[in-house]
Amino acid sequence: MVAHRGASGEAPENTLAAFRLAVEQGAQYVECDVHLSSDGVPVVIHDEKVDRTTNGTGEVARMTLAELRALDAGGWLRPEFGGEKLPTLDEALAACAGKARMFVELKRGGGEALVEASLAAIERGRCEVAVISFGPEEVRALAARRPDLPLGFLIGRATLAQHGLERALAAARERGASFFSPQQDAVDAGVIEAAHAAGMPVSVWTVDDAARMTGLAGAGVDAITTNLPALALRTLA
Ligand code: G3P
Ligand code: CA
Repeated sequence: MVAHRGASGEAPENTLAAFRLAVEQGAQYVECDVHLSSDGVPVVIHDEKVDRTTNGTGEVARMTLAELRALDAGGWLRPEFGGEKLPTLDEALAACAGKARMFVELKRGGGEALVEASLAAIERGRCEVAVISFGPEEVRALAARRPDLPLGFLIGRATLAQHGLERALAAARERGASFFSPQQDAVDAGVIEAAHAAGMPVSVWTVDDAARMTGLAGAGVDAITTNLPALALRTLA
């Protein structure tokens, strides 16, 4: 079970508060999203802009680490989380090290600069990780640089429908991914079986419904990403 952006159903996504809560609840994996600041530091935030999840405005890629760190990344959810900062990737890895493994998502468009800076943080940190990305360039660069790391090929429902399962699995293999990570509502037992036949474990995102978790587990899925790790742990126990 993978806690999506931390325990983001209960704490502000992609903050240390969300990562700590996921770890406390017993998540085996904690997922986070990474962009580069304008001064080249891997920072944990989902969107290209800070507007939705902080009290600021603007594009992450045009802001320095100091500017990003000045923002409040928790008060938008509830006042008790006021003062949470946007974590660096180093801080997120340190929060989980020895307690949970991380799924580190390198956001599409970050290119080799994002790959290099993130791998440097991963190599400095003491946290076991899998890396995931939607970006063909990022997946290829990751596979070339660190073929030893588990590497997930993310694919949304619409893209999977557009290209078809066989082509998507072939693209995942050709780009060097070691597991297949589709959006959950594109997945049924046939998708899981075909991926397994192609030698790829299947890690789905994002499932917050207990019955769906049970169904996917029964169909042989290898990992489920959820905003509600406590629910997933109870359901899948
Ligand atoms: O774990 C994969 C999932 O996080 C991909 O979608 O948009 O939530 O980053 P998104
Ligand atoms: Ca993500």
